[in-house]
Amino acid sequence: MKNKVCIITGAGGGIGSAIAEALFGLGYKLVLMGRNEEKIKKTAKDRDCLILAGDICDDEYVRSVVAKTVETYGSIDLVINNAGVAQSQEFCDITMEEYDKIMNTNVRAPFLLCKEALPYLEKTGCGTVINIASVTAHKGYALQSVYAASKHALLGFTKALSKEYYKRGVRAHVISPGGVFTDMVKISRPDLSSEGMILAEDIAETVLYLLKMRNCACVADEIELHRETKEPFM
Ligand SMILES: NC(=O)c1ccc[n+]([C@@H]2O[C@H](COP(=O)([O-])OP(=O)(O)OC[C@H]3O[C@@H](n4cnc5c(N)ncnc54)[C@H](OP(=O)(O)O)[C@@H]3O)[C@@H](O)[C@H]2O)c1
Repeated sequence: MKNKVCIITGAGGGIGSAIAEALFGLGYKLVLMGRNEEKIKKTAKDRDCLILAGDICDDEYVRSVVAKTVETYGSIDLVINNAGVAQSQEFCDITMEEYDKIMNTNVRAPFLLCKEALPYLEKTGCGTVINIASVTAHKGYALQSVYAASKHALLGFTKALSKEYYKRGVRAHVISPGGVFTDMVKISRPDLSSEGMILAEDIAETVLYLLKMRNCACVADEIELHRETKEPFM
């Protein structure tokens, strides 16, 4: 996997930062995205990579990241759509501006990034997309209506994308975790304690597992992960 090129969104902390750390370890050339440049620099730790800060809801930013990646590294092997926003709000209190923000970040932006990167992923002959959804891609939790809608949508478009492109050499996977101990869960589920939580590094290990499987005949379309304190197959 040395010198393969990966674009990762939301690389400035939490799950994105842990995935970046794991991929640096494998020798990937990384393109780190996020709004906060200082946070992305902390992930990069002065290692050789592209730091491209911006808002993924801005189409021109997303397009420019793909263009800059190809200009700098010549190809794209892996796209990880990790950036996301959560909510904790009563259904009737959600404004349509908040609805748009969550849907644009969690669905529209990954959709556009995949769309822009796919010609390059296809060209490598073994491109990979990994989209970070959530258990809410399958279940509805109170106070998370838009978040659940967005993660159902992310799962849905990834399913269609993987069917459309698998014969063309591109695999698209989804990782759907339960509570991971990051800033997001501290804000969206303040009722949860840190005990028994999934770690960001566990998600990074799952990404590595999917990549190791890339050259064998067995494919995991979606990997669901739950906290050890939750019952299995919920
Ligand atoms: N934590 C959980 O329990 C959990 C469970 C299941 C799924 N997930 C999913 O895992 C992914 C990562 O979440 P996390 O837990 O690591 O949360 P996090 O620490 O809050 O990270 C979210 C990341 O998304 C980026 N982001 C948000 N809006 C953006 C925008 N408009 N433009 C560019 N970047 C934006 C943030 O970048 P900046 O900091 O630079 O703004 C941040 O790095 C999300 O998709 C989330 O839905 C999380």
